[in-house]
Amino acid sequence: MAYKYIVTSALPYVNYELHLGHFAGCLLPADVYSRFLKQKGEKCVYVCGTDEYGTPSTIEAEKEGIPVEELVRKNHEKQLQAVKGFNLDLDIFSGTSLAGEEHVKTVQEMYERMKANNYIYKKEIEQLYCPKCERFLPDRYIQGTCPYCGGKARGDQCEECNKVLDPTEIQEPKCIVCGTTPEIRKTEHAFFELSKLEDQLKEWVENNKHWPANARNTALAWIKQGLRDRDITRNMSWGVPVPDLPGQVFYVWFDAPIGYITFTKQIDRENWWHDANTRIVHFLGKDNIPFHTIMFPAMLMADGTYTLPYQVVAQEYLNYSGGKFSKSARRGLFALDVLELLPADYWRYYIISVLPTSHDTDFTWEDFQQKINSELNDTLGNFVHRTLIFTKKFLENRIPGPEGLTPEDEQVIADAEAAFRKAEELLYNIRLKEALDRVMEIARIGNRYLTREEPWKNKDRMAPVVHTCLRLVKMLGIALDPFIPESAGRIREWIGVDTKEWDKALEPIKAGTQVGEFKPLFSKLDNKKIEELRRKVEGGDENVIEYSDFEKLDLRIARVESAEKVQGADKLLKLDLDLGEEKRTVVAGIAPYYSPEEIVGKKIVYLKNLKPRKLRGIESQGMILAAEDEEGRVALLTVDREIGLGAKVE
Ligand code: MF3
Ligand code: ZN
Repeated sequence: MAYKYIVTSALPYVNYELHLGHFAGCLLPADVYSRFLKQKGEKCVYVCGTDEYGTPSTIEAEKEGIPVEELVRKNHEKQLQAVKGFNLDLDIFSGTSLAGEEHVKTVQEMYERMKANNYIYKKEIEQLYCPKCERFLPDRYIQGTCPYCGGKARGDQCEECNKVLDPTEIQEPKCIVCGTTPEIRKTEHAFFELSKLEDQLKEWVENNKHWPANARNTALAWIKQGLRDRDITRNMSWGVPVPDLPGQVFYVWFDAPIGYITFTKQIDRENWWHDANTRIVHFLGKDNIPFHTIMFPAMLMADGTYTLPYQVVAQEYLNYSGGKFSKSARRGLFALDVLELLPADYWRYYIISVLPTSHDTDFTWEDFQQKINSELNDTLGNFVHRTLIFTKKFLENRIPGPEGLTPEDEQVIADAEAAFRKAEELLYNIRLKEALDRVMEIARIGNRYLTREEPWKNKDRMAPVVHTCLRLVKMLGIALDPFIPESAGRIREWIGVDTKEWDKALEPIKAGTQVGEFKPLFSKLDNKKIEELRRKVEGGDENVIEYSDFEKLDLRIARVESAEKVQGADKLLKLDLDLGEEKRTVVAGIAPYYSPEEIVGKKIVYLKNLKPRKLRGIESQGMILAAEDEEGRVALLTVDREIGLGAKVE
């Protein structure tokens, strides 16, 4: 039976600047998977867009002093550039506010159906209200003191002890906009009766035996804790209006996943959501698991007209050298920045090859360099290049026919086909990293074969060997497309393959075809290049050193015992230093600024472990520290109170 596939990637908050972590988390795996399905001729759409409502956007807009709509448009545009730059084959990259009425309608209709099915009730709650701003304050708009630890608390959490708080229990609460003390007022909210669905959800999750362990276990752990009803409305204006509660909008986590449906509607595939033969496959970061395994499916159950998700693929985190990606610290690899450094395929290849499927993974430059150089360049690039070079040099640049193929050659093709089929199976099972490894196996088979055959030594073997290799190159040109589409497209173009249909990969290659102009697919990254990339990524911080760098300096306090001018060098003074336990001699270029008499007796800072060097025949052991300003004034570093000679400066 043929399925329809709706592949989704968690909607990134519009105020994010996309970085490699987002691409590793869901954007890229979803792309690889949906590209593959389309190549297989499956009915498939890949939908995504920005998550635009909620307080993160309004707070950011207020910070920048622009209307929230403008912030959304601006940031959406940037994210769109990033997803295009990474060659994501999205059928739509929309946005929850940008989709306009279409989204409002989808959300409100869903709410109405949930209500008609008795999953919605109203309840009065107490909330903080700012009399000056004349509005109820969303959690993040309240600042105060934590009742438990006395630390600074913001909204629903204490920033120090991390305790989750009810905003009404915060002490000395203040409105973050105007600083006024808010008052407690009653307001009526809509609640989603999640508790009613507990058994149904439990059964459903338990039956989803094909889910990866992280999604299944997290979901079951949540259910085990017991599912509480959820407040799904907020007193604010930035959001989808709640039809029967004037002045309120839906909580952002209620409207965002419905965005998947809205965006599918925008490309005229809404009916897929109502079709039991549709496989909805969600890709997301691990922090979003509960929303995709419990909240959203529960909403769909309560609605009753939609198909439930089939698969939930959650990646762990890809961190930048030990820490989380951070915009404010400008740490990490931001999508638009990295695309200026190297083509998208380098990043795509690397990300998939280290995909954090079961545990958090660190991006390190060493690892990146190694993967690009030894796998992308040496294994893949070289195999393709050598094959094309032989075709050009020995076979008039024409693809040779299968004449003269030996059983050994046939075996090489069969081995490559086996790897290709294995990759296909792994791709269907969304085991992308392993699938990529099987595809790369085709290139490894090819390299081993060329090394073994050495066709340049036996001209009779040249045509059959090159034919065999070109069969492998064709498989690569098709099987690499989900992973590194630009390079795969180039390969196909060079050898005259005008389709990327998956199953065409194993068909024989057309003999006589002229090979096009080609060049190396990739280039190696040497240490210098890697350092340069690292410096660019780490931005303005290129002068920052680690404490361990500073620690290498052995700085001591020394007293100048005697000083004299160096013969024939009017800038230099020779100084004998007393370090308490030992004596040293240094030659310093300070004669224009200090007379020998002036300097004797001073306690100065001395760098002890500088490699000795000879100046005017005198060995200078280490150096003394002085400062020089713009005007050319020079001053020695001295100490401001009594301290023992040889004391360490740290
Ligand atoms: N905006 C959320 C995040 O970036 C993800 C929303 S996913 C959706 O963490 F399902 F709600 F769309
Ligand atoms: Zn206020």
